[in-house]
Order: sequence, then C-alpha cells, then structure tokens
Amino acid sequence: MDGNDLVYLRSNVIAEPLIAGWYAWPHLISPASCAMNVVGRHLRIMASYIQSPQLHAAAVKNPAMLGGPFIDYAANRADDIRLLRDKTVNEQNILIELAQGIQQLTKLLKEEATGYSLEPLYQKVPELLRGYVELYYDLQHHPSFRFYEAMLYRSPYYLPSMQSVLLTTADTDDRAFVLSTPRLQTEGAINIELPFNRPQYDELFRMRRKPGSYNSVREALSISSEQESLFRSFFTESKPEVAERYQGEGLRIRYFGHACVVLETKDVCIISDPVVSQPYEGAMPRFTLEDLPDTIDYVLITHGHQDHILLETLLQLRTSIRNIVVPRSSTGELQDPSLKLILEAAGFPNVIELDEFASIELPGGGRLTGLPFLGEHADLHIQSKLCHHVALNGHSVMLAADSCAVELRVYEHVRKMIGEIDVLFLGMECDGAPLSWLYGPLLTEPVPRAQDRSRKLSGSDFQRALGLVECLKPKEVYVYAMGMEPWLNHISSLKYTEASLPMVESTKLVNECGTRGITAERLYGMKELVYENHR
Ligand SMILES: [Fe+2]
Ligand SMILES: [Fe+2]
Repeated sequence: MDGNDLVYLRSNVIAEPLIAGWYAWPHLISPASCAMNVVGRHLRIMASYIQSPQLHAAAVKNPAMLGGPFIDYAANRADDIRLLRDKTVNEQNILIELAQGIQQLTKLLKEEATGYSLEPLYQKVPELLRGYVELYYDLQHHPSFRFYEAMLYRSPYYLPSMQSVLLTTADTDDRAFVLSTPRLQTEGAINIELPFNRPQYDELFRMRRKPGSYNSVREALSISSEQESLFRSFFTESKPEVAERYQGEGLRIRYFGHACVVLETKDVCIISDPVVSQPYEGAMPRFTLEDLPDTIDYVLITHGHQDHILLETLLQLRTSIRNIVVPRSSTGELQDPSLKLILEAAGFPNVIELDEFASIELPGGGRLTGLPFLGEHADLHIQSKLCHHVALNGHSVMLAADSCAVELRVYEHVRKMIGEIDVLFLGMECDGAPLSWLYGPLLTEPVPRAQDRSRKLSGSDFQRALGLVECLKPKEVYVYAMGMEPWLNHISSLKYTEASLPMVESTKLVNECGTRGITAERLYGMKELVYENHR
C-alpha cells in the first residue's frame, strides 16, 4: 500500500474511547461523577488487584462474578496496574481532591444545616467547591447541594487531556467488562491521545465508508514510526459494501441488537440508543456500521446507563448525525449528570433536550414524543430517562427501553395522549443489579445491604410488562434491550441461561401475547420489520 493511496478503515477495527485508561461511560465524562468514580471505583479496584491479583483472576472465571469489581486480567499484571494506579494518583489528583471536597460538603450540611438559613454555610464550603455549588433544602428540610455543572466543564476539574481512543482489531466479541477493567497497553493496540471533541477522529471514522488519504490521517493522529506498521494494518483498499437507504413508502425498522433500533422512512432515519458492533470473520450475523445510512437525522437516547449511551458508537457516527435527542436531566445533581453537557463535551454540538410529553416534528409529517420512563434507577432522583414514541407514515412505535412499569396509571395517561400503539419495544431485564453496583461510588454514606438489594436497576417483569401491553394495546410486542448479544459483554456483563429470570419472564410474555393474538418475539441479534403504507 503506497502512502498516497486512498484507503478505508477496516470494518473490524474497534475504537474504545478511554478516560485515563478506563472505558469512557457517561459518569466518567461529567467532572463531579468522574471524581467520585476515580476514588470510589477505580482506585479501590486497582488497590484490591494489587493486593491480590490471584483473587481477581479467579473471580472473573466465574460468569456470575463478571459484573463484579474484579479486574479481568491474568494474575501477572500487578506491575502494570500499579503503574496505572500511580499515574491516576498523579494525573487525576485534582479529581481525588474534588471527591474529598464533595464528601466534606456533605458532612458539613449534615452537621450544620439544621433547618436554619444556609447563607452562613457558603463561607464553610470546601475551598475547591466554592463558586461551583448552590446549597438548598427540600420541602422536608433535608439539606443538599447542586453543581453549576456547565461551570465544572470550564474548570480545572474537567480533564480532556485524559481522553484517548484505543484502536484494535476484533477477532472475537469478548472484551473485558468496562466498569471493572481498565485497558492496559497490549500488543496490536494503538492509543490515540486526543480529546474526544477533536475533528481528527472524524477524519479517521469517515474512512469506514469514504476513502481518505492514509498519510493525512497518520499525520493527523500523530502516529509514531514504531506504530506505523500496525496502524497501516487497520486500513484496506477494498471498498466496503455500504447499505442502501430505505426508499419505500412505509416504515422499515431494523433491530441492531440490545436497545439499538433503526427506524427509516424515505424522509427520515432515526436510531435509538446506538450500540453497533464490529464484524469479524466467523462472527454471529449482525448489522454493522456499514448498514447505517450516510445521514442519521435523529439519534434518540433513552437514558444514561452505559449500555444505552455508547460513546464508542456515537463517536464513529459523529459526522453522520444531524441531531441527538436526550432526556433533560435534573440540574446539577451528582447522580444525574446532564447528558447534553456530556455529549457537547465529547464534540456533539447538536444535542436537543426533550421533556416528558414534549414533541418534535419529524420530516415527512412524523412526530417524536418523549414519554415517562419509570424506575430502573434504584429510586434515585434521576430525570435523564425517557421513553420515545415515534409516529411515522401512519405507524405508531413506542420504544420503552428499560422502563419498569411500576405504576400503570402513568401509562393510562400516556395512552390517552398518544392514542393507539402499533409496535411496542420493551426491555425486560427484570433482575437488575443493586443500587450500589452503578451508583455506589456516588453515595457519600454506605447503604445497608438489605436496602441496597431492595433498590435494584430492574426493568419490567412479566406482570408489569403484561400490564403495559394491556394498557397500551399494541398489535406487536418486541422484547429488546436484554443485553444478550455477545457484542454487549463488555458493557452489560450479563450471561443468561434459559433459567435466568429475565428469560423466564420474557418467554412468558411472548407466549401470553401469542395466546391473545398479539405478534410477539424476544429479539436477538438482528431483525428487520417492514410496514407498508396502506393509507
Ligand atoms: Fe438501564
Ligand atoms: Fe439497559
């Protein structure tokens, strides 16, 4: 391959966005939640591995422990993890201090905010948080604080210099679980040390579909001479087969795996919770990035969990995406970082916040409406979650993601507002992880075990899902977002058997729908549905 040749990025190249060596999920981008995760997750896990690497190596062999706080490397990487720990302490020291400041502020409020005016307490806010927080009581006189979150992104606490993208090639779907395993330098990998918002990434990822100059991208990414032969191997002269845009008069829906659903009419292309996998030789059949059209009019994000807002996929689609629609978060709560600010920081200028029961008109006369997303967030005050209702060419589709239908009265209101639903997509991960699994590092006081286990990140079980079906009366029901596809391993850590509760409950739902004459299926891998326009 001559350096002047135009080349394509190979379809099996994986690009993992990292922050200080850890997979970049939303809570690692927002500065305050990142600080708490560095201290409460990363440093803890690394200290534990350094102390007993054998324990970690043994634990990850047990599928039931895969989502746990165990580093998924053999026991011989203690030196590398020690190096990463030291680097973290040095380079992210300011975040460690920020986390300590958050702890101190919480303690201050607990001890001194006793129902009287909070004004005198501003002088006592830890120095490094002053000017970044507002103190308040709720109506039950519980004191708390909120961040001026946009200011944190303009402060020394936002560290884009820690961001990078790790390029490797896939020959398997197996990847270590992202919440517990940092990415260490390995053979066959090149870490591009540029912040996520840099246009150089666009130049690279555009080459999946359109040829680009090898020399230009090599220079843009500052590839060293030692890295060059590996870097070259990531490119090919063969033109990939790129998908045709749907041209029919009706609606085409393609399931790409997990909660990733692509809805297309001839006027508009919408993709929900984009999680798109890489192909490799011998891989299970799947839709890939090449199966998406050149332009995606709307990306819909249902909520901020790491399996629904995947920077890994979004970064690669950045030049194709016209708009990203996210749920509006509560303002400045530690547990509910703004998805808009997260995505803007990652280089997406076109983020729209959608509220519950608010709508956006779609090209071709369609309409997108935000609907309530109940539960699945351990009863924390988290607003950044939304179901989507999409009306296109006379078809009505609801994407309910991980909603736990705990209160059907909500959906009675929904039904009155949006009318009949033709197709319902519903997640049924009904045996979710406890509160502390995802939110533990943010808790400033430990949660008793029994409470932790009662507050799970669970979606709808059979009864709740059936209640939803009876209320909304869809003609078709598809169970999705189950984390079952092998390419989800690194973000979901789920390994179901037929006896697993989500499988048992969702099978019951599919069967029950069948007896009631409702088309129903639990989706796995890929699926295409085409609805002709009969109007
Ligand atoms: Fe979720
Ligand atoms: Fe999920």
